[in-house]
Amino acid sequence: MEPITDKFGRPIRDLRISVTDRCNFRCSYCMPKEIFGDDYVFLPKNELLSFEEIERLAHLFAKLGVKKLRLTGGEPLMRRGLPELVEKLMQIEGIEDIGLTTNAVLLGQYAKPLYDAGLRRLNISLDALDPVLFGEMNGRGVKPEVILKNIDKAHALGFTIKMNMVVKKGTNEQEILPMAQYFKERGITLRFIEFMDVGNDNGWSFEKVVTKKEILERLQGVHELDPVEEEYYGEVAKRWRYKDNGAEVGFITSVSESFCSTCTRARLSSEGKLFTCLFASEGFDVRALIRDGATDEELAAAVTGVWENRADRYSDERTEQTVKNRKNKKINMSYIGG
Ligand code: GTP
Ligand code: 5AD
Ligand code: SF4
Ligand code: SF4
Repeated sequence: MEPITDKFGRPIRDLRISVTDRCNFRCSYCMPKEIFGDDYVFLPKNELLSFEEIERLAHLFAKLGVKKLRLTGGEPLMRRGLPELVEKLMQIEGIEDIGLTTNAVLLGQYAKPLYDAGLRRLNISLDALDPVLFGEMNGRGVKPEVILKNIDKAHALGFTIKMNMVVKKGTNEQEILPMAQYFKERGITLRFIEFMDVGNDNGWSFEKVVTKKEILERLQGVHELDPVEEEYYGEVAKRWRYKDNGAEVGFITSVSESFCSTCTRARLSSEGKLFTCLFASEGFDVRALIRDGATDEELAAAVTGVWENRADRYSDERTEQTVKNRKNKKINMSYIGG
């Protein structure tokens, strides 16, 4: 099969697979407690894609051009048996890279089985080193020590780790420099993520975004940094390197410098819908096709049709006005994992 491209000529290269809609955190910018409370109904097991279905789809996407898989959630480590899935996905021809995005609460337990299954890359979310603030931001009072200990364990096992920190104005800006220092010393890349208007419930506004420019200025007040060239087409983070020890920092600038023109990412939600943008309202129900007995050819034709019709560029078009005019509900991040 030929690699496919969308309306703007963008190839399909990455597939982000959400393996569960559940999470053991309640980050205010993603699953606010007020909405995801004790009575919130998550998907029952039979509505999630099974490991066999995920594996089948990953094979198919690889044939259409996907080279990189990312497992997300919710919190992917809450899906039982995840290392078994990793082991299967590692064997797929054409897949060059598999990563896992996690909050690392359960990593102490899963790091070794994941490593043994062949996983080598972890992206770990951590928004603050201050225990009180971090406890508030994760909505569950979990202390940063838990995460830092698990990071050390995973690092010692040999994982390549990148840290993700969502920066929200008035909440955790004061953590930018301490976080930078901590991870610089350990040679672990920290990426600062501009707070985004994903989902419908996170109270986003332009005023709450701390831009890459502001963060970089703060860093440059203390550290000497050089920009680093893009490593591959469509790389999400803009990278910089500390002059003195070579460690890297990155910026994910969906708001201030959008990167839609090179967006090669498809997203499979935990219930098996295919989304062609993080900010989409509607997904294409691949699970229904599979469970209706579609052949591989039929599935490939359907996915090709969706991708070839893709014209998403939400972040490129984001202005005060487009945000205000938006009528459709967006998909919640916990279904598609960012
Ligand atoms: P690698 O660069 O392969 O390590 O992974 P990644 O940065 O693509 O994945 P990760 O899950 O760590 O994502 C980091 C942040 O980037 C998250 O907040 C994502 O929501 C955001 N992100 C990733 N892809 C996109 C995208 O296509 N559009 C937007 N707007 N944000 C994205
Ligand atoms: N804005 C920016 N990043 C977000 N993430 C979750 N919600 C948001 C948001 N509203 C991040 C998480 C995680 C990654 C997958 O997405 O912190 O690192
Ligand atoms: Fe959970 Fe990640 Fe969402 Fe936080 S950002 S609630 S850790 S899925
Ligand atoms: Fe891709 Fe949509 Fe993000 Fe733009 S906003 S980079 S099209 S996922």
